[in-house]
Amino acid sequence: MALTILGIETSCDETAAAVVRRGPNGGVQVLSSVVSTQFAQHAPYGGVVPEIAARAHVEVIDAVIDQAMTEAGVGYADLDGVAVTAGPGLVGGVMVGLSAGKAIALARGLPLMAVNHLEGHAVSARLSEAVDYPFLLLLVSGGHCQLLAVEGVGACRRLGTTIDDAAGEAFDKIAKTLGLPYPGGPALERLAATGDASRFVLPRALLGRDGFDFSFSGLKTAAARLAEGLTGEQQKADLAAAVQAAIARQLSERTGRAMAAYAREREGRSLRFVVAGGVAANGAVRAALTRAAAEHGFAFFAPSLAFCTDNAAMIALAGAERLAAGMKDGLDAPARPRWPLDQAAALANPTHPPGRKGAKA
Ligand code: KG4
Ligand code: ZN
Repeated sequence: MALTILGIETSCDETAAAVVRRGPNGGVQVLSSVVSTQFAQHAPYGGVVPEIAARAHVEVIDAVIDQAMTEAGVGYADLDGVAVTAGPGLVGGVMVGLSAGKAIALARGLPLMAVNHLEGHAVSARLSEAVDYPFLLLLVSGGHCQLLAVEGVGACRRLGTTIDDAAGEAFDKIAKTLGLPYPGGPALERLAATGDASRFVLPRALLGRDGFDFSFSGLKTAAARLAEGLTGEQQKADLAAAVQAAIARQLSERTGRAMAAYAREREGRSLRFVVAGGVAANGAVRAALTRAAAEHGFAFFAPSLAFCTDNAAMIALAGAERLAAGMKDGLDAPARPRWPLDQAAALANPTHPPGRKGAKA
């Protein structure tokens, strides 16, 4: 049976709603995808202010959902379920979307799927092309940098994670030291286009080291020191290019190691690699990972650019996959600021000590 799902996403600084139809054999149609960004509200502060984010979600959520339904050309009676991000993220924002989703589910008697935002990113490449399970996933966003073996809907094993900053966080913080506006990642990529990456030598963290973890704090400190002494625009562009190349290189080197190990595990079977999350929108990162995949015999998949950064279509699709597998949630589903995709690995090897609300992803 085809499933038509309304998705809602409010975990960070984007208010998003989308309608996605998943065919009986897994084919996907994005009927609408509306994203209202709050960049302008946060820009004066150089980063996301949680309280401003939560208020901004409240102000636009109804209009964003209305627009998604109108553009999709469907009515509430045509829906088979509502999928909402329930975490991880800024809890004030998550609660806004989750309450809206619960209200629609209750009023219309529809099943509710409380979706993990990271699971949304994990399925995002499937919005534009068919990607079969299992696959090796590199999830690189503002808050996360993880390698995961994804076996199926809601089933994955974490292979590696960052021991300090996420890759997107490194892009954003370094961009700030270069005087670039928030959000820093896309601004740094634009500046890097006119730079020469070979003008600066930056540290190569974890090079050749065992395991599949990442580290960006050394790079961040080195780049901040270099940024202090810069004079002209060309030097800034050169440093931006060097930083981008260093991040792309570390991501592809560590992922290459994981690919080699994953390929040994899956000896003789097909190999698929997916990169997802905001940083997957970066051209240099995509190119370096495309080369690593080719080198290790993996088919390469990445979401189209619009579905790399936060959106609700990926949440709707994750919800549709859950519903198709018989997984639904009650109206008491909690908003979870922390919610590791692979709970077991996160508890055994937390990026931060497990807190009252569980291990940080
Ligand atoms: O997935 P996402 O929209 O939100 C989170 O779940 O975190 O990712 C946002 C992150 C930000 O750190 C942003 O700077 C980064 O992705 N980003 C980029 C680019 N586009 C977004 N980083 C580098 N180059 C880009 N083109
Ligand atoms: Zn995200």
